[in-house]
Amino acid sequence: MDFLPYAKQTIEEDDINDFIDTLKSDFLTTGLKVNEFERAIYEVANAKYCVSVSNGTAALHLAALALLNEGDIVLTTPNSFIATSNSILYAKATPVFVDICEDGSIDLNLCEDILKQDASIKAIFAVSFSGKILDKKRLKYLKNTYNIKILEDNAHTMGVKLTYSDISTFSFHPVKHIATGEGGAVVTNDKALYEKIKMLRNHGQDDKHQMLDLGFNYRLSDISSTLGLSQIKKLDTFIHQRQEIAKRYDKAFQNTIVKPLYPYTNSSLYHLYVVRVDFSKLDITKNEVIIKMREKKIGLQVHYRPINKQPYYKNIGYGDEQTPMMDRYFQECLSIPCYPLLSEDEQQYVINSLLEVLNV
Ligand SMILES: Cc1ncc(COP(=O)(O)O)c(C=O)c1O
Repeated sequence: MDFLPYAKQTIEEDDINDFIDTLKSDFLTTGLKVNEFERAIYEVANAKYCVSVSNGTAALHLAALALLNEGDIVLTTPNSFIATSNSILYAKATPVFVDICEDGSIDLNLCEDILKQDASIKAIFAVSFSGKILDKKRLKYLKNTYNIKILEDNAHTMGVKLTYSDISTFSFHPVKHIATGEGGAVVTNDKALYEKIKMLRNHGQDDKHQMLDLGFNYRLSDISSTLGLSQIKKLDTFIHQRQEIAKRYDKAFQNTIVKPLYPYTNSSLYHLYVVRVDFSKLDITKNEVIIKMREKKIGLQVHYRPINKQPYYKNIGYGDEQTPMMDRYFQECLSIPCYPLLSEDEQQYVINSLLEVLNV
């Protein structure tokens, strides 16, 4: 059996054929495919505008620059890829890490407690962690009641609609729902935000090539957009295949020490399938499990080490926040293989191997 990573892209004949057609065409960088892909993205997100960019981090960077001012205080989650809170730092703003709920996402009740006490908070940067969509009504309530900006980092939830939030960002890294190699996008319903992000993506220039701001080259190529276009057509299928895997895992782990992060819901998009294991009850450590599973050719991952406890963040004064839920979650979490091409036999092999290694 081949090595089974925790995540992997699905590239099929149609993707390859379209890709070759673009390679033979006149445009490799900014041609019609970019516009076509952007249209497809905003249609999926039910949003008015989309700016495609070179990766999900660039999407967050430009979104943060468009939404924030220097010195703004922003509530965010410790349970994400570092890019989420890094984008706040890029904008010379200050992230404040808020503890998470049982499902791994930022605790919006705790956010409200902080917002009640501190009127200087300008925004929440939240992540629909692992594929479970954030409580949109609650976000809308917080936005309107406390007059704050909301950014949804939807790197784990390609397919989610933009509703009340100011901006939603995506990543098309190969482990995500759709792959363009490197790639990402920002969607918004706000024309001014759209114009600013589009300008910053292209060196800070307007349509007449006047440089108005210090921007970047964060453009997505026609080559990548071509792959994105053939991938996005299959998004619903990919999501369905991931959900089927989640259902099967949920069932297999019933009444075992392996606890799915949250019970199956068909609104969850399962970028990751995360389980929690209470290692304090076992004779084996989490690292030993990762090593033993690797010997069985199964790649587990940890999503995520608390961002506020990363060495860089500690060096700039973070790390002492009270985040007991995050701390316990980090002791227990493991992401197991979940991607459309994982066959039923392979899923069963993952289930059997994990239970065997845990000796339960
Ligand atoms: C939650 C989250 N945000 C942002 C990113 C950054 O995306 P990219 O790797 O495309 O820069 C990722 C990707 O790993 C992610 O998981």
